[in-house]
Amino acid sequence: MSVPTDTMGDVSDSSLTDLPAADRPDVAARLRDALLGASFTADGLLDLLGAPAYAALARSETVPALRATRGDTPLEMLVRLFLLQQPVPHARVADVLPVDACLETGWLVRVGGDELAATVDVRPYGGLDGEDWFIVSDLGCAVGGAGGIGSREEGVVLGVGGASTTLAGITVRTPVASALDLGTGSGIQALHAGRHATRVTATDVNPRALHITALTLALSGAPAADLRQGSLFEPVRDDERFDLIVSNPPFVISPGARLTYRDGGMSGDDLCRTLVQQAGERLNEGGFAQFLANWQHVEGEDWQDRLRSWVPRGCDAWIVQREVQDVTQYAELWLRDAGDHRDDPAEYQARYDAWLEEFEARKVRAVGFGWITLRRTAAAEPSVTVEEWPHAVEQPLGDTVRAHFERLDYLREHDDAALLEAHFRLVREIVQEQVGLPGAEDPEHVVLRQHRGMRRATAVDTVGAGFAGVCDGTLSAGRILDAIAQLMGEDPVLLRDRTPSQIRLLVEQGFLEPAD
Ligand SMILES: C[S@@+](CC[C@H](N)C(=O)[O-])C[C@H]1O[C@@H](n2cnc3c(N)ncnc32)[C@H](O)[C@@H]1O
Repeated sequence: MSVPTDTMGDVSDSSLTDLPAADRPDVAARLRDALLGASFTADGLLDLLGAPAYAALARSETVPALRATRGDTPLEMLVRLFLLQQPVPHARVADVLPVDACLETGWLVRVGGDELAATVDVRPYGGLDGEDWFIVSDLGCAVGGAGGIGSREEGVVLGVGGASTTLAGITVRTPVASALDLGTGSGIQALHAGRHATRVTATDVNPRALHITALTLALSGAPAADLRQGSLFEPVRDDERFDLIVSNPPFVISPGARLTYRDGGMSGDDLCRTLVQQAGERLNEGGFAQFLANWQHVEGEDWQDRLRSWVPRGCDAWIVQREVQDVTQYAELWLRDAGDHRDDPAEYQARYDAWLEEFEARKVRAVGFGWITLRRTAAAEPSVTVEEWPHAVEQPLGDTVRAHFERLDYLREHDDAALLEAHFRLVREIVQEQVGLPGAEDPEHVVLRQHRGMRRATAVDTVGAGFAGVCDGTLSAGRILDAIAQLMGEDPVLLRDRTPSQIRLLVEQGFLEPAD
């Protein structure tokens, strides 16, 4: 039934025979048309199920969705078939789908009596520009974790999770010639990359994932990708370089490799470190590599230093820690994700204990989760920023990430004297907040807050607040400071001397933008 493409390497057909054929784009196209015709789209699904049932699916709870699809419309039938693993009468399916072609190519199978079942999950997924796409995954894995409603087979391929959409949202989406999606899984990152990269290469250590990626792309009407099997950068030729590398890797720090989609099989956070360290030499100049990662907080070590040491030579880096969990929270999160809490209590306790034992042996006290972005640069002194920002952000952030690195270039090219000559503009939708005792004449703190992108907030002094307020691109920074000095009765030379570092920070964090 399944026919892996040549580029997938040494893949045995037998391991994939339960999947639909990947070499029948004609059938995938017909199936796609039929699904769209029945409004089996992200919007259609939300309309049908309603927000609570839709959200419950993401928590692996299917009861609300089953209740919402008891009717007989084509859309209800498709949700039961492709998302809820329910058998559906042959005649009902034949009204909506090209049933013979789907049976022939293995999208559907006969299950007792006169009923048909899907062989994979198919989840409607809306692209960033409103595209109607479909993500294929293993049965029971379109929503929630593998332990939710799905399988716990080692090579199971999951659908879209929160991490998948986070990475898709932070990825820089400028048009490029070549993109690499490392650890492609269901193919979601490759699907996004196909919108702005001429060539997309997708790799995975799991042949099942490559097969499923081919199905996701075909069913979404997206260009095929160059699919290659292998670990980390093994499938990439020595002389190959990319403009964009993305990876939502198996970042979970766990005792032993149980589930390929999440356990990297290397000790501690070594897989993420290796990925980051090896990405630099695979990038074209100016190219971005963007990863989600987990990292250890080790007793007696500064977590920021640990991450700085991962950054390869010749790369600027922006690393954002979004969350930190202590080792107990972390072990529980992933035990639950795999459904281990539903097992025999003694087995659950043994697994939990093994996890803590491993952390203790490594002196790991907590685990950080976040985003790592590298940009290949020819600059003599690359810039590495490692910061913590656990607050809400506005996705998609791709443009914000690109702008961060553009501002770095600007600041690198402007010393303090040049900054004072430059003109700046306050970025749109920034507000000033004042905090202090009610009735007090002067605020204790003045905070500038962004309402877009990273939604940063930064405390400024009176000069910083006044300066930002006046920045409309008309006067140079130096002239504004001279005026502020006069108003405040300060020495203008001293003010010009001490303020550039504050201007630098406001530019770096995206509160001010160069007007020229
Ligand atoms: C967390 S899933 C991400 C899937 C998908 N890219 C996404 O964003 O949803 C990680 C993927 O990496 C693959 N993988 C695991 N170990 C790998 C390795 N050493 N090299 C390459 N891929 C690997 C898994 O098979 C899985 O498909």
